Amino acid sequence: MHCNLTLRVAVPNDRSIIGNIHTLMGKRVLLFPVPYQGHINPMLELAAILHSRGFSITIFHTNFNPIDSTKYPSYRFVLVDDGEISSQFESTVENTVHRLIAWNNSCEQLFHDCLTNVISDKNEEPVACLIRDTHWYNLQYLANKLGVPTLVLRTGSAASLNWFMTFSQLLKKGFIPVQESQLDMPVAEIAPLRMKDLPRVGNCSREAINNLFTNDMEAIRASSGVIVNTFDAIDNKEVEKFREAIPVPVFCIGPLYKFSLMASSSLLNEDRTCLEWLETQAPGSVLYVSFGSLACMNYEEFIEIAWGLANGNQPFIWVVRPGSILGKDEVDLPDGFIEATKGDGKIVSWAPQREVLAHEAVGAFWTHNGWNSTLEAICEGVPMICRPQFSDQMGNAQYVTRVWKVGIELEGKLERGKIEKAIKQLMKDDEGAEIRQRMRSMKNEASCCIKSDGSSSINIDKLMDVISSS
Ligand code: UDX
Repeated sequence: MHCNLTLRVAVPNDRSIIGNIHTLMGKRVLLFPVPYQGHINPMLELAAILHSRGFSITIFHTNFNPIDSTKYPSYRFVLVDDGEISSQFESTVENTVHRLIAWNNSCEQLFHDCLTNVISDKNEEPVACLIRDTHWYNLQYLANKLGVPTLVLRTGSAASLNWFMTFSQLLKKGFIPVQESQLDMPVAEIAPLRMKDLPRVGNCSREAINNLFTNDMEAIRASSGVIVNTFDAIDNKEVEKFREAIPVPVFCIGPLYKFSLMASSSLLNEDRTCLEWLETQAPGSVLYVSFGSLACMNYEEFIEIAWGLANGNQPFIWVVRPGSILGKDEVDLPDGFIEATKGDGKIVSWAPQREVLAHEAVGAFWTHNGWNSTLEAICEGVPMICRPQFSDQMGNAQYVTRVWKVGIELEGKLERGKIEKAIKQLMKDDEGAEIRQRMRSMKNEASCCIKSDGSSSINIDKLMDVISSS
């Protein structure tokens, strides 16, 4: 049954959308996120949008970073037992790539029976399609074999798809590994990135990274299309370029979190006391510091950050995730730090980041430029200090600092003096005022795309039509 109706959807920040909602009864969408925080969040947000449009939802997840299914009582969850793979790799950043490849290599064995059971279950609604993460590339071929139409969710930007493609080309041409003398050389195919901004993941081998990217791209060719957590105003040219290389339908429907009303999908417990603390701070005064769910630092860097923040002389919230200081189990602050910050800082192990960024007391965000964090900063209008670490983060930082010009980059060795200077530059100086002004305009562009006649809303409707007719 297929009916059209007009619904008012209440969304956070007093925003409301009147959408022409196509409610489709009696079809099920299967979703399989890659089990890392930055990938789970957008996939569950997409699930929430689909559910609000009448689709039933089945989520596949693994023993590694399992999702708390009790938070989503309306969905069906299927645990894919990934056996040894969960525990086989130490938690290093390069192992995120090795683990992904291992999952894909075992995809048929891990996933065949689960998927077959779900699609042949006569007690459930018929399956409209599967939506898989870009990095679940071998799932594409399995789904094709079983006749399940499959869409890909790219949780990063559209531009990042072009970076992944170019990586393989540069490797073939012998430009990777990047020579010391070529680090600042622009990569013409993917301006404004320089050679040093090409994706890298700790000391993961270029062959492993290339294996992942090449397989990702090949599997996209075999899919029914790509959904991207981005919006046209910032990524349209990159979409055009991508489609010239891989001509599949592309749906830019981000920022997904602005369209979905759902419980937090954090894997760690959020420390909400920082929101109360923000209430006591002056508007635009607080620096929020967070490097996402995977990035790590050594103890020397931790100490430099601590003193940089103290000397920066702005109130701050600093997320220090358990395990993010290499070789330390505890947050071991330097002597004199608490006195130096005069109680003007708050350290938490995990924050309700979107609510923090949306708070009027927050004036700047020191970020690793994971794509979710970058999008969230844009949507909440918070200028950035960029300190990218791996994967697409270097490219994202180049867009922030050199294309959109809504942030500054903190390059080279992490030193307290540089950190202090960057904080002052962004939060106090004239240059910072211009950046803040540009960020306000960019926030407006982001809010336009989520209005009922905005590009992402229109693209969501198109996507719903495609899924409902599959
Ligand atoms: C990773 C990569 O960094 C990113 O570049 C890639 O596109 C996706 O996977 P991650 O490093 O965790 O993700 O960063 P990011 O993409 O920014 O995602 C982190 C998410 O965790 C964000 O949605 C952020 O709001 C949330 N978060 C982070 C919290 O809710 N609380 C925190 O304290 C920190």
